[in-house]
Amino acid sequence: MDKTHSAILRYLSANTARFQRRLEEFLAIPSVSAEAAHRPDVLQAAEWTAGALRALGSARVELLPTPGAPIVFAQAGAEPGAGPRRPTVLIYGHYDVQPADPVKLWETEPFRATARGEYLHGRGASDMKGQIVAVLAACEALLREAERPPVFKFLFEGEEETGSNNLPEFIRTHAELLACDLCLNPDAGMIAAELPTITYGLRGLAYFELRLRGPERDLHSGMYGGVVLNPAQVLCELIAGMHDGRGRVALPGFYDPVRPLDEGERRELARLPMDEDFYLKNAGVAELWGEQGYTPVERASARPTLEVNGLQSGWTGEGSKTVLPAAAMAKLSMRLVPDQKPEEVKAQLERYLQSRVPPAVRWELEQLAGGPPALSARDSPGVRALSAALEQVWGRRPVFRREGGSIPVVAFLQQYLGVQSLLTGFALPDDNAHSPNEKLHLPTWRKGMQALALFFCRLSENERP
Ligand code: BES
Ligand code: MN
Repeated sequence: MDKTHSAILRYLSANTARFQRRLEEFLAIPSVSAEAAHRPDVLQAAEWTAGALRALGSARVELLPTPGAPIVFAQAGAEPGAGPRRPTVLIYGHYDVQPADPVKLWETEPFRATARGEYLHGRGASDMKGQIVAVLAACEALLREAERPPVFKFLFEGEEETGSNNLPEFIRTHAELLACDLCLNPDAGMIAAELPTITYGLRGLAYFELRLRGPERDLHSGMYGGVVLNPAQVLCELIAGMHDGRGRVALPGFYDPVRPLDEGERRELARLPMDEDFYLKNAGVAELWGEQGYTPVERASARPTLEVNGLQSGWTGEGSKTVLPAAAMAKLSMRLVPDQKPEEVKAQLERYLQSRVPPAVRWELEQLAGGPPALSARDSPGVRALSAALEQVWGRRPVFRREGGSIPVVAFLQQYLGVQSLLTGFALPDDNAHSPNEKLHLPTWRKGMQALALFFCRLSENERP
């Protein structure tokens, strides 16, 4: 093996206990972006991230304000332009996490990192504080041990889990600051611990809160039931009408801009180890559901969907209360694929509501998040360097997949800067991301660090004269 490669791998394994302690510290900060009460913690996570970037020896570390959580920007390695040309890699991460709810179902404290066997448990361990610590460790190894490390730029946001609502404007107005050859985004996870994965597609997201109001106050359901239309019932009927009997979204026009899947891509997706059993087992359900004519992996990554994310109306506390509720609310979201646009599906949903909601009920629709879908090249010098690095560590070539989740930054970088993202990561499907008992598989995490470090080496080697 190349001398630099082995020095870098030695550096990582000699420091692995320190990296894990660093992650445990990061996980102790409850940086939940969805809840206002956690705003100070989100800020503390930004400060923590900035501190980690200073410890790396970054020449420049800044907290840049947005109307929401600050962006942490940093730059390390040689000044771009100084000496022979080096590639500039923009490293993306989000320091916020999902709410720990429902806390009752956690077997350990969500915000106290707890090691159990091969896992480290805690909210954000896998999505994505663990990934951030891994990529910072890889950068550190390069900066300490490599002769010509790439130029590293860092873009860390604190609002990804709520839709990156302030990020597009930030990227648009900081094009020069963020200028780079490519973006490395380690938030995309992998299919299985033994299967290194490169993700080339992400779905977009359009997220809404729908509020219905009927009578001006809650009514006695015995006195008014049968006379006054119940908004909870209206909400259920509206939602029921959003899919047809073949599992398709019934909003008129929804599928019009959807690019059909070509046969070649369908064959490739069919080769992924994600068959019916994979989904049955990972989701813990008795049977699968979805759009007819498509396989599970296609439905979960390359086809658009509509989901109810939350419902609220009437009495949901203990025991019974005979009430005809005054209001009903649903959180709804669509996962989008090229070339659907969040604004267009919003207009489709509004037209659907206009045509269906009866006069006895008033409705209000608020968009909470929106990010376009993204597809990236499956072959480029960056993809080849990442692929070779993953193969070097795992002893097998990575698989290429489309992911059903969303990471809004990818489309924004493409749109505003023309920058392509390389998507990978070391989160596993059973890490319980967004669920109780989130965990990180430590052996995979350590391999991930190694692979990222080797990727950075290969990137600078590519540029060697
Ligand atoms: N890391 C995830 C995206 C992801 C999900 C990658 C599943 C691989 C597998 C990211 O943090 C996330 O959860 N994104 C949100 C974005 C949304 C709020 C705009 C998502 O997909 O729900
Ligand atoms: Mn997430």
